[in-house]
Amino acid sequence: MSGLDGFLARVDARAAERLHSIRDARRAARRRLPTVVFDYVDGAADDEVTLRRNEDAFRAVTFRPEMASGIVEPALGVTVLGNAVDFPVLLAPCGLTRLIHADGPSGVARAAASRGTVSVLSTVAGSPVEAVVAESGAPLWFQLYAAGGLDEADQLCDRAAAAGVEVLVVTVDTPTIGNRERDVRNGVSPPLRIDAHNAVPLGVQVLARPRWAAQLAATGIRLSGRGAGPPGRGGGLLSSVASPFSWDDLVHLRKRWHGSFVVKGILSGADARRAVESGADAVIVSNHGGRQLDGAPATLDALPGVVAAVGGDAQVLLDGGVRRGAHVVAALALGARAVLIGRPYLFGLAAAGERGVERVLDILRAEMRRTMVLMGCPSVERLGPDWLEAPRP
Ligand code: GLV
Repeated sequence: MSGLDGFLARVDARAAERLHSIRDARRAARRRLPTVVFDYVDGAADDEVTLRRNEDAFRAVTFRPEMASGIVEPALGVTVLGNAVDFPVLLAPCGLTRLIHADGPSGVARAAASRGTVSVLSTVAGSPVEAVVAESGAPLWFQLYAAGGLDEADQLCDRAAAAGVEVLVVTVDTPTIGNRERDVRNGVSPPLRIDAHNAVPLGVQVLARPRWAAQLAATGIRLSGRGAGPPGRGGGLLSSVASPFSWDDLVHLRKRWHGSFVVKGILSGADARRAVESGADAVIVSNHGGRQLDGAPATLDALPGVVAAVGGDAQVLLDGGVRRGAHVVAALALGARAVLIGRPYLFGLAAAGERGVERVLDILRAEMRRTMVLMGCPSVERLGPDWLEAPRP
């Protein structure tokens, strides 16, 4: 480790210790990232109604605790698609992870593994799947977009399988890119692309964040140039790509993929059934963190209908709006096997690199444990709608 690397690692370790909540991580990310990158992570589509709805749905939950239960060490572990995880929080696929901190997707994968969970690498994270598997040595799931059509999707599947990935996550809510207005205003309108055309105005914002720039420079990432984009794309880092999958495509991909197959972006029981009939082993109730269809339902509100429709034929996961350990407990009480987080760990990554992602996971785990103890619930297996006031249908 060079002198500069060692210094930056110590800065990150200290920054991680200062995080005590996801809100802290968001504040630190805002300080550390150029506005354009912070807005890309923090922002959502149109008026950001669905983004707020996701969070508000968790705020509206009322628990029904049981007192004097004597529970002090609730069991938090679950098995997700055959993978035992120490607690039910996975790291969702996110675009441009590589641009947020030099530790990038490999650091994220290592942080997940060190906390006994797993991360999902996005097609547009900015790093090829082979490199992340090799650099992290951690188990990885892979999320699939296919901007270049089904042939490109097939190639990406084969590469992920050859790299040793066992779980494929196909995102179905991105037939076109949501209107991320913050990105539009920042001059990188959708999808966010950082390349030779806008590098100069962005350079001004970057100069205002020298620590971020130093870390990125240490890994050789440039704001313009070739080689950093997703497979099959030209130069530059590209955040997300229109990927109009049909159910027939899903059936095709299911046949090609030999591992577990997950469909992400489900918001209704009817679509959940289609996913199961297409061969999904799990569905993720997701509205893409409010980044696609503004006005889509909150994921927590959509969850019970999906759980009922799936009826045990597949596992049900959820992402969107999880900012506290108590939110994980609420999602599990309404039938999710586990949740995924996106922005929270990206904020941690921005604030303190790999150490920041670990810290975010530690915070959520500690909050979750405390919530379970205060509720008197011995194990996540025991969670169900009875633990909530006015259980949702
Ligand atoms: C990528 O999937 C994004 O939402 O930007």
